[in-house]
Amino acid sequence: MRSTLLAIFLLAVSCSTAPKVATYLDESQPLEKRVEDALSRMTLEEKVKILHAQSKFSSAGVPRLGIPELWTTDGPHGIRPEVLWDQWNQAGWTNDSCTAFPALTCLAASWSEEMSALYGKAIGEEARYREKDVLLGPGVNIYRTPLCGRNFEYMGEDPYLAGKMCVPYIQEVQKNGVAVCVKHFALNNQEANRHTYNAVVDDRTLYEIYLPAFKAAVQEGGAWSIMGAYNLYEGQHLCHNDRILNRILKEEWGFDGAVISDWGGVHNTEEAITNGLDIEMGTGTNGLDSKYGKSYDAYNLALPYLERLKDGRASVEVLDDKVRRVLRLNFRTAMNNSKPTGSLCSPEHYDAARRIAVEGIVLLKNEDDILPIDIESTKKILVVGENAIKKMTVGGGSSSLKAQYECTPIAGLREAVGDKAEIVYQRGYVGDLLRTYNNVDTGIDLTDPRSEEELISDAVAAASDADIVLFFGGLNKAKGQDSEGCDRDSMALPYAQNKVIEALAEVNDNIVVLIVSGNAVEMPWIDKVEGVVETWFLGTQAGHAIADVLLGKVNPSGKLPFTFPVRLEDNGAHALNAYHKDSLTVEYKEGIFVGYRWAEKHNIKPLFAFGHGLSYTTFEYGQAKCRKSGDGFKVSLDVTNTGAREGQEIVQLYISDHESSLERPVKELKGFRKIRLAPGETKEVTFEIEPDMLKFYDPAQSGWVLEKGSFTAHVGASSDDIRTRVDFQK
Ligand code: BGC
Repeated sequence: MRSTLLAIFLLAVSCSTAPKVATYLDESQPLEKRVEDALSRMTLEEKVKILHAQSKFSSAGVPRLGIPELWTTDGPHGIRPEVLWDQWNQAGWTNDSCTAFPALTCLAASWSEEMSALYGKAIGEEARYREKDVLLGPGVNIYRTPLCGRNFEYMGEDPYLAGKMCVPYIQEVQKNGVAVCVKHFALNNQEANRHTYNAVVDDRTLYEIYLPAFKAAVQEGGAWSIMGAYNLYEGQHLCHNDRILNRILKEEWGFDGAVISDWGGVHNTEEAITNGLDIEMGTGTNGLDSKYGKSYDAYNLALPYLERLKDGRASVEVLDDKVRRVLRLNFRTAMNNSKPTGSLCSPEHYDAARRIAVEGIVLLKNEDDILPIDIESTKKILVVGENAIKKMTVGGGSSSLKAQYECTPIAGLREAVGDKAEIVYQRGYVGDLLRTYNNVDTGIDLTDPRSEEELISDAVAAASDADIVLFFGGLNKAKGQDSEGCDRDSMALPYAQNKVIEALAEVNDNIVVLIVSGNAVEMPWIDKVEGVVETWFLGTQAGHAIADVLLGKVNPSGKLPFTFPVRLEDNGAHALNAYHKDSLTVEYKEGIFVGYRWAEKHNIKPLFAFGHGLSYTTFEYGQAKCRKSGDGFKVSLDVTNTGAREGQEIVQLYISDHESSLERPVKELKGFRKIRLAPGETKEVTFEIEPDMLKFYDPAQSGWVLEKGSFTAHVGASSDDIRTRVDFQK
């Protein structure tokens, strides 16, 4: 509709007596020329008007000039249902159901740039079809603690992996004339106290761990917008943080897009004006008795800004920089008349959601090859657990969706198994009864009158003669689990899950535990079960994808994008008591030693290491060889599929620096390749090692330095399964 109006406006302008189309409307003109032209035509009031929200999810355009409003949407796993103009409540539309794509942890676990591109293309098309200009995602905050409620929306603990995996998503979304809004920039690594905690982080840690994925999003992905985070750094909120937004993002990285505040993340008018914010969204005002009458006018970047501009307290130069950025964003999206039309819930999107889901599922343990299920010799499959029947696309905060369709694990299994075996279901435990979230009704009544003891004994009774028991547990989207706004209380599985698994293991030896989560969980029963699978939150195609892997239609190929520690204390932030729910200051004392970097420094054996993931086939790695190539090196090796099935392997390159003036991690991920191999097939894998990849950030020099010395390239199937090494000198 808006595109049509714009086209009519353009036509009217071009058919009027005016000699030619105004420069800013002429898409054949260079972007910057159009921006300057539009800027020169705008009044002070019009300039200020486009810098803040006009509704929950939109900001105003310039109607007089035919510049349309900008519409944003969550993000990042599907297109959020429409909400009311002024409220979070759903608007009740009937044409806003979407495809729910797998959570970003799953995408990261695929380690596949191809899947990232597929994801971006599909979700970008859905955003476009729904006439959105800005998609609020992807999220690339680093997984610092397993307690963070929003880890499921992010891409794991490694800056290199998160950086590589977000780029194709961004590029493909933006091909639809829809901007991404990369979030939450930066240092937003917990939900507890998310509006008030000040992250105290040294510069080296900032540059080496917490910024690289955002930098890749901006410089390699070409992100058109970025979202400020809620919390503080150097005592300033990150939505108006001079160092992070002005000095680093805009000056150092040359970002030319717009900084959009997180919703309600702006707290100070002067800072909002001077510290790099361009669009203010979601600031709560009572709207009734404010001095400005209408609530949106009371935003920091609304009338309070206009007043300061009029009486000279604020400079027009700073204003114009913001306006240019918003115009650029608008020209790239809402005013892009050649963008494609998009599509919603198409067969291609369902197919993409399923492909991404199966590529991200991680087979963590597979004793005696219990998986894939040999359906010919299986008569009875017992499925236990709430997560087998629960829809997970609802709940969890702003990423909650109204999926047109969601296949639960049990439904997917039933469909795939058909009448080849009997499938019996037992609840096992009662967890979260959520049925409706933000007016989206899953239609599933989860109430169960049985006591904990009854639920366990019913499950145990059904398990004794089952050929295999599939326990579906993990977390869910309830508050205090994988959910926005608060963190988990512990790393333990909630409810009676551990008890149920232990009880099942007493009567059946063939137990496979499927963890539905976006976070690591403790597994005290690990030695009593044969199989463990991390399935993540998989969206629309959850059940189909899980069945594909369990029944061997697809060979699993995901690998963990973060460490599963045995205990919470095995994580650096917790070992150092440097995670706080109740303090306004959170000192990132573990520094650069996040995730596997911490475990390796302290020789802590994780439950499952970063990069770990099994396959139904086996891969043999040949000896890595290193040769000079330009300024850098090339490391190559052969990888062979030595099993009987086709499969994909993620070959990982880690580098250690042996002579450094500053302590470095034991090794760091610097490359990965996902390769598909037929049985018996060998492929050569080559990694380029550029000199930049050997650098570390030296705070004394305020920059990246390359020190000469000896290095080792480790190539393996995970961070704790290195198969071949080669040394080189720089
Ligand atoms: C979240 C953002 C989200 C925004 C709009 C905020 O509470 O932190 O990630 O995009 O709301 O829903």
